Amino acid sequence: MKHFINLKDIPAKDLRKIITDAKKRKKQRKKLNNLEVDKGSPLRGKLLVQMFEKSSLRTRLSFYLAIKQLGGSTLTLRPDELHLSKGGESIQDTAKILSNFGNAFMLRTSKDEKLEEFKKYLSIPIINGLSPSSHPTQILSDIFTVEEIKKKPISKLNITWIGDSNNVLNSLIAASIKFSFKLNIGCPTKYQPSKIIMKYIKSNNNKIRILHDPKKAAKGADVIFSDKVISMNDKVNKSKKLGQFKKFKINKKLMSLAKKNCIFLHCLPRGKEVEEDVFLSKKSKVWQQALNRVHVQKSILLYCFGKLR
Ligand code: CP
Ligand code: NVA
Repeated sequence: MKHFINLKDIPAKDLRKIITDAKKRKKQRKKLNNLEVDKGSPLRGKLLVQMFEKSSLRTRLSFYLAIKQLGGSTLTLRPDELHLSKGGESIQDTAKILSNFGNAFMLRTSKDEKLEEFKKYLSIPIINGLSPSSHPTQILSDIFTVEEIKKKPISKLNITWIGDSNNVLNSLIAASIKFSFKLNIGCPTKYQPSKIIMKYIKSNNNKIRILHDPKKAAKGADVIFSDKVISMNDKVNKSKKLGQFKKFKINKKLMSLAKKNCIFLHCLPRGKEVEEDVFLSKKSKVWQQALNRVHVQKSILLYCFGKLR
């Protein structure tokens, strides 16, 4: 049994194995409908319990399809209907019940510590479905999408992030270290990665550059990523922050500084950080990116269950 909490704590060879497995599985089920089960039903009889403390559309749907396609099933708990939040039931007791009734637990949380606390008491795998500090399932799936489109290992590509230093970027930074790819980060000075992340970058890698000019960040990119300026956990003066990101908006001009065949990716939901004519352009691969979450999460589940081929 393995947990999936942060990319930085998972061996690079395991992350690569997950991507390779997802590639094979996606290819093998080309002709199957969404709810048809993969040959061999590898997770038959298994229950994935999901809980979202914050909104979700894609993560919810993709985990639903992922476990179904592996032959298992899922149940989504509403945190406001549990004793855990309302009646003061402990994480320890909740975890015991989850472990007795379910086979894996996917948690989207507003507190990173909760993932660790659950991990301590669960005897089933826990998967981080987004926390304030990371979004590992998203980024692993995005690596898959980049390699699928570019038909090259990501280590041979120039990746650019233009936007806020948030949970998604933190996972992209971890991925840059694990998969050894060049990463340009374009963000306002005030919004560069936290001290802890900067320390992590410095002690692990010299392929990451932080730039405060979006044009410099975009130059020569094979892929440009962005995300909302205001994340779900952001307790800031929203209009002020949006103003500070004005010149970091992704528009056609900025895209034209990247390589000719540069693609645009965004985990969604979007805000105003990208112009409509880029978001809806041929360069934008955001719908393919969203759908790939199903394929990669299936292999993440198999990894957690110790069933990766
Ligand atoms: N990208 C992503 O995680 O989307 P949701 O918040 O809708 O799950
Ligand atoms: N950074 C965003 C990602 C949403 C999927 C957030 O945390 O709100």
